[in-house]
Amino acid sequence: MLFDLSGRVALVTGAGQGVGAGIATMLAARGATVAVNDLRSERADSTVAAITGDGGKASAFAFDVTDRESVVAAVRDVEQSLGAVDVLVNNAGNGGGEAMRPRPFRDTDPSEWEGPVRVNLYGVLHCSHAVVNGMCERRWGRVVTIASGAGMVGLDIGVAAYGAGKGGAIGFMRHLAIENARFGVTANTIALGLMQMEQPGDVTARMARTIPVGRLGRPDDAGALCVYLASEEASWMTGQTIHLNGGSVTG
Ligand SMILES: NC(=O)c1ccc[n+]([C@@H]2O[C@H](COP(=O)([O-])OP(=O)(O)OC[C@H]3O[C@@H](n4cnc5c(N)ncnc54)[C@H](O)[C@@H]3O)[C@@H](O)[C@H]2O)c1
Repeated sequence: MLFDLSGRVALVTGAGQGVGAGIATMLAARGATVAVNDLRSERADSTVAAITGDGGKASAFAFDVTDRESVVAAVRDVEQSLGAVDVLVNNAGNGGGEAMRPRPFRDTDPSEWEGPVRVNLYGVLHCSHAVVNGMCERRWGRVVTIASGAGMVGLDIGVAAYGAGKGGAIGFMRHLAIENARFGVTANTIALGLMQMEQPGDVTARMARTIPVGRLGRPDDAGALCVYLASEEASWMTGQTIHLNGGSVTG
C-alpha cells in the first residue's frame, strides 16, 4: 500500500481540534500510532476518542509547546509509552491577541508580540530539538511544520507578529532539512491558506470568493499532504515550503 505509516509513531502538536485533529486522524488512518498533543487535555482526549473509535491507535499528551522543559519531558513520555517518534508535525499555533483583534502592527502594543512568536516559532524549535537527534540516530525521520501564507507574503489583515513567528519557522525548517538530510531525516513546511472555521455562512462565502478553487481549506486537505510528507515515498522531498491554499498564492 502506498503511503503506509504502519509501525510509525507520529507526534502531532495542537491536535485537539481543527487542522491538527484532521492531520492526526489521517495519519492514524494510514496506520500510524499517534501521540495527540494539545495544551488543553480535554481537546486531546476528544481527538484520541475519535481516532480509537474508528479503530486507530492514539494516546493523548497534554503539554505546552512553548515550555521547553515540558516538551522534553513529554517526548520522553511518548517514547516510553508508544516508542520513538518517527514523525513530528508541528501544528500548534495561533495568532495570539492578533487573532482576536487584528490590526496594523503600528497600533499593537509590544507586549502582544511575544505570544505569537513563542508558539509559532519557539514551539517548533522546542519540539524539533526534542526529537531530531533520535531521528538521526535511527536514520529515519520526518518533520512537518504547519506555517501560513502570512509567513510568506505581506498581508494587510493585521497579523504582522504572527507572520514573524510563521516566517521564522519557515526559515528554521530549511536549515533543519539541510543539516539532517544525510541522516534520512526530512523537514518540510506547509504554508497553509484560509481554512474553514466556525464563522457565519456569509463570511465563509465572502472569503471563499477570494480563493481560485472556490472554497476554504479543510483539515483533510492538510492531513492528506502530511500523510505524503510522513511517508517512505517522500524521502526525496525535503527543505520545501509547500503552498496549500486553493490557489490563493501561487509559486
Ligand atoms: N485556520 C486557518 O485559517 C489557518 C491558516 C493558516 C495557518 N494556520 C495554522 O494551522 C495551525 C492549526 O490552526 P487551527 O485553525 O486548527 O487552530 P485552532 O486554534 O483551531 O487549534 C489549535 C490547537 O492548538 C492548541 N494549542 C495552542 N497553543 C498551544 C500550545 N502552546 N501548546 C500546545 N497546543 C496548543 C489549541 O488548544 C488548539 O486546540 C496553526 O499553526 C495555525 O497557525 C491556520
